[in-house]
Amino acid sequence: MSSSWDQPVSKELRMVEEEIMRNVRSSEPLLTEIATHVIGSGGKRMRPGVSLLAFRAVGGTDLSKIIMLSAAIELIHSATLVHDDINDGAEIRRGVIAACRKYGTQRALITGDFLFVKGFRLGGLAGSDDIVEIVADTCAGMAESEMLQSLVEYDHFLPLETYLQIIEGKTAKPIEASAQVGAYMGGGSADQVEEMSTYGLNIGCAFQIVDDILDITGEEDTLGKKRGMDILEGKPNLPLILAMRDDSPGSARIREVFGKQSKTQEEVDEVLHLIQATDALDEAMRYAESYREKALKGLDVLPDSEYKDALRALADTVLERNR
Ligand code: IPE
Ligand code: IPE
Ligand code: MG
Ligand code: MG
Repeated sequence: MSSSWDQPVSKELRMVEEEIMRNVRSSEPLLTEIATHVIGSGGKRMRPGVSLLAFRAVGGTDLSKIIMLSAAIELIHSATLVHDDINDGAEIRRGVIAACRKYGTQRALITGDFLFVKGFRLGGLAGSDDIVEIVADTCAGMAESEMLQSLVEYDHFLPLETYLQIIEGKTAKPIEASAQVGAYMGGGSADQVEEMSTYGLNIGCAFQIVDDILDITGEEDTLGKKRGMDILEGKPNLPLILAMRDDSPGSARIREVFGKQSKTQEEVDEVLHLIQATDALDEAMRYAESYREKALKGLDVLPDSEYKDALRALADTVLERNR
């Protein structure tokens, strides 16, 4: 997401970065090293960007707490990535070797816990009881969705409803929470807070669908992670579900390879090509577009400002992104 959607809050995002760095220091040097490996390797900082834009868009001015809260959100997000890479057997994250590969599963697990609790502490210091409850419920929802996803691995015929339930919990709700707490902390009206939640939830769904598409079409160098991981790991992502559901020979072959617990790189590449020959990618993109439209409606409740424009630009960037 190289475009400049986050430009109106670039100063605030730099402050968030400093806050994050203050929070990853530990008396145990190896913990600091692994945490810095994860945080320092980049990432788009979309969630803190969303919370800051929502805060500003409703007229928020006092930065002290929203910077802490936005940093907390990114710390928690980074923690989930460290754990996700253990679960998904990932090799590359944010363009560098995944923490679990470089330092081993055990140490990556500990670092994920560390980042998580540091994030939670910071968020608790910055936010009211309401905020703590929103963040905690969101994190519990992520765990529930990750568990559900683990139960449907290698499922050829995952109902779309179940797929949508999974992406809502693991990706969309955390982005919803970012927008919601931003608007709440900015003093937005009940209506504005609700509509910002709608915006976050819907760009979140679009974001995960595009992530699924990029797992098939992405350039690994730009994407910063390996292509074909969902196929390799038997994760039914949206294009896969759509490509596996008809009775064409291609679809049957995708199901056959997808269902294997162990696959060669040639088989993964074959499936990547087979999916590209169907209309599953276009169809998945149409789902993402319809989520974007719903997200944009949520912005109607905001007064015109550069922040509102940036939220609109982000909704477009989520669909056009290649990283
Ligand atoms: C990755 O999130 C996990 C998903 C929800 C797809 P991002 O793509 O926002 O990861 P970073 O923070 O930019 O690395
Ligand atoms: C998002 O799903 C997982 C989290 C919300 C942490 P993925 O497993 O598809 O994310 P990537 O593709 O590894 O970033
Ligand atoms: Mg993953
Ligand atoms: Mg993915």
